[in-house]
Amino acid sequence: MIKLVVSSGNQHKIQEIKEILRELPIDIVSKNDVGFKDFEVVEDKSTLEGNAIKKAVELSKKVEGLVVADDTGLFVDALNGAPGVFSSRYAGENVTYEDNNKKLLKELENIPINKRSAKFKTIIAIAKNGEIIKTIEGECKGRIANTKSGSSGFGYDPLFIVDEYNKTFAELGDEIKNKISHRANALIKLKGELTVLLGENTNEDHCSK
Ligand code: IMP
Repeated sequence: MIKLVVSSGNQHKIQEIKEILRELPIDIVSKNDVGFKDFEVVEDKSTLEGNAIKKAVELSKKVEGLVVADDTGLFVDALNGAPGVFSSRYAGENVTYEDNNKKLLKELENIPINKRSAKFKTIIAIAKNGEIIKTIEGECKGRIANTKSGSSGFGYDPLFIVDEYNKTFAELGDEIKNKISHRANALIKLKGELTVLLGENTNEDHCSK
């Protein structure tokens, strides 16, 4: 069975990936499961793509099988795409989600709700033996609320109003969020890519027999 190593130790992410890919004959493990718990790369690229590729390629030089890595950011139109690639450290290094949310509200203080459009974007990179195979993109469109609403989720969830539902991710809850989010959209596309890759591997096996 093909092994898929997720370049993350975040159990929540691993579970989400396992859930969406459950029908595929793939053994999904985290970097911790293959002895690379402390493996980290410096996320110093200027794009989500750059960071996702770096994370996937560097780990794939060390482990067998396919490696996937993701990077996510919130892009606010009125702020020329900020916080973008800096979403986790918008208010500075070692800050909390609350600090980042406060900074976002401050930056948008005088911007009316109809000009607060934004999107979450996730990039997933697939690599093998130190080479990038593919990058995949998932998006979710919405706008930034004037105040926080809802209690579920994490990060910018209490401020991000999803266009389709007119509610924040934090109000919608994980069950709906995990069906429509930027990450879910990227993972659904990943499932399609992996299905193709598995087919190619099976064909190669047949041809070599
Ligand atoms: P990461 O690439 O998944 O670590 O995400 C980078 C940052 O984007 C996180 O630290 C959060 O601030 C934010 N973020 C990522 N995904 C979400 C989400 O689904 N909801 C809210 N914020 C998110």
